[in-house]
Amino acid sequence: MGEEPPSEDGCIEPTKAIEDVRREPYPLPKDFEWSILDIDDPKQIKEVYDLLSLNYVEDDDAAFRFQYSAEFLEWALKPPGYFKEWHLGVRVSSNKKLVAFISGVPTTLRVRGNVFRASEINFLCVHKKLRSKRLAPVLIKEVTRQVHLQGIAQAIYTAGLVLPTPVSTCRYYHRSLNIPKLVDVKFTYVPRNMTLARMIRVYKTDTTPHLPGLREMEEKDIPQVADLFAQYMQRFNMAPIMTVGEIRHLFLSGRGNVEKPCEKYRRPKQVLWAYVVEEHRITDFFSFYSLPSTIINHPRHNLLEAAYLFYYASNVAFEPGVDESNKLKTRLVDLIGDALIIANQANFDVFNAVTLMDNVSFMDDLKFGAGDGLLNFYLYNWRTAPLAGVNAIGDVGAGRGVGVVML
Ligand SMILES: CC(C)(COP(=O)(O)OP(=O)(O)OC[C@H]1O[C@@H](n2cnc3c(N)ncnc32)[C@H](O)[C@@H]1OP(=O)(O)O)[C@@H](O)C(=O)NCCC(=O)NCCS
Repeated sequence: MGEEPPSEDGCIEPTKAIEDVRREPYPLPKDFEWSILDIDDPKQIKEVYDLLSLNYVEDDDAAFRFQYSAEFLEWALKPPGYFKEWHLGVRVSSNKKLVAFISGVPTTLRVRGNVFRASEINFLCVHKKLRSKRLAPVLIKEVTRQVHLQGIAQAIYTAGLVLPTPVSTCRYYHRSLNIPKLVDVKFTYVPRNMTLARMIRVYKTDTTPHLPGLREMEEKDIPQVADLFAQYMQRFNMAPIMTVGEIRHLFLSGRGNVEKPCEKYRRPKQVLWAYVVEEHRITDFFSFYSLPSTIINHPRHNLLEAAYLFYYASNVAFEPGVDESNKLKTRLVDLIGDALIIANQANFDVFNAVTLMDNVSFMDDLKFGAGDGLLNFYLYNWRTAPLAGVNAIGDVGAGRGVGVVML
């Protein structure tokens, strides 16, 4: 913090040889013990779910708290090649109650011209009763040790909080869908120059998607989606590089119970929605995930159904001169417009997106409104100049610095 932006990209400290990584776990305060969570065991996923659903991130007014579902956690924590040692818990020694958690999953990142393996760190949580006892720094150190033990020396993470030093800052935007409920739970309000009825009309979406050739993504689409994704992500300064196996996991394994017919655009236990546009070949795709929030202390509603925009791509981006024309923007308005229609039909109350990738280009047209939440992006042990997020930097447009969507 306060340093000049680096003139050259690279690691901050040299990669540790595995022999030099500390062998023993970092010490915990007395009465607590480390526990590697086995995410294959439904009982242990439920323990993580219980911890997070009561103690994870809340908004500033403590009105909403993220409620990642057990199915979501299983999907998020078990990508191909995951390390079980990176699903790290702290238990009370006497009764084995899970009171803290942190996780990492492996990824390959490209930051500007460099490609490296990294750990995506997420779900840091300490039970409310154990806050301010400096457990968080121990969790972070221990997961870092576990990451080093796999020969990986970099990590990516996000937080609302400002820590040393963000590589980018993005803003959350919200597209209201279910106006009466959002107003009722005070997620949004009726502006002074509007009535509730008019607001409902303004945010109404059509009942069926518009793009010809739009359909749910299937197994057979994976190679084409993987190619389209890889090429599209080159638009951004920082992006993941995904194997075909990772594409399959991210876009197909979260679809819920595929044996059951998909009624009203939603299957039981579905966490991820992925659609392609096919006209002879796949020209576009989009995806979004379900992350509800508990509505704290409301007499009528206890769950805010939020969809979050995930990865998407369009081959319109590969046409020459596209950044000087409106063609890509127009296509994305249609594409993400269909995502909104599907999310609304699937009974989501709100559709959220962050100012990364090309999102800024379609947010106004699609009636997204700025939220008050910021999301800071951090790289562990990697220096790079600031990446365009909420604001443009030099000739890189807003969002175009960041092509990583964190769950
Ligand atoms: C975030 C959380 C784990 C921190 O635990 P805590 O008991 O409040 O704080 P601790 O006493 O253990 O540790 C404080 C240190 O952790 C750091 N810290 C706090 N939140 C952090 C975060 N999200 N990422 C990294 N470091 C963080 C603080 O900066 C402080 O370090 P410093 O003194 O060097 O500045 C806890 O508040 C929590 O579970 N909050 C709800 C979930 C949440 O916000 N998770 C993080 C999502 S990014």
